[in-house]
Amino acid sequence: MTIEVPIAVQSADGMRRLGAAIAAVAQPGDLVVLTGELGAGKTTLTQGIGAGLGVSGDVLSPTFVIARVHRGGRIPLVHADAYRLGSVEEIDDLDLDASLDESVTVVEWGAGLVERLTGDRLDVLIARSPDDNDEMRSVSLRPVGEIWTARAAAIARTFA
Ligand SMILES: Nc1ncnc2c1ncn2[C@@H]1O[C@H](COP(=O)(O)OP(=O)(O)OP(=O)(O)O)[C@@H](O)[C@H]1O
Ligand SMILES: [Mg+2]
Repeated sequence: MTIEVPIAVQSADGMRRLGAAIAAVAQPGDLVVLTGELGAGKTTLTQGIGAGLGVSGDVLSPTFVIARVHRGGRIPLVHADAYRLGSVEEIDDLDLDASLDESVTVVEWGAGLVERLTGDRLDVLIARSPDDNDEMRSVSLRPVGEIWTARAAAIARTFA
């Protein structure tokens, strides 16, 4: 059974707050896969995850590097952009100086690429409104596996 937890996010700050709610339940080895068009808010959500974990260094769009490791928090954050990545094995081949087992790995544009990395994962879909000026984002949390299924409800409660 696939469950889906819908969340309306009204602003970029709200998106960061949702990220912090995800960080609050995150554990080493977790995989979070972000899907949404350009400017949907994938990096903004990752900023909130980083802030919630307490990592140091700004979480930026990984434009010039495919992935970055942010340390100094409760758990290391691996932030990857699969847009220019051929396959997931490349993530492990990136010589990140952090193993995915010990990190929370957040992958933008990772759908269809990174599913093999772990059994359980959290898929996050972010949809913009057709109106470019509208800051509302319709977010759908789609947990895969029991662990994230239990956590998805907790994330929504924390965010509300
Ligand atoms: N509710 C919202 N949630 C997230 N971002 C928002 C929201 N409202 C406005 N914004 C703005 O939209 C932009 C989202 O940019 P962001 O880099 O996070 O998108 P992205 O999905 O990572 O894009 P890309 O595909 O280019 O990596 C930011 O400028 C942010 O301030
Ligand atoms: Mg981005």
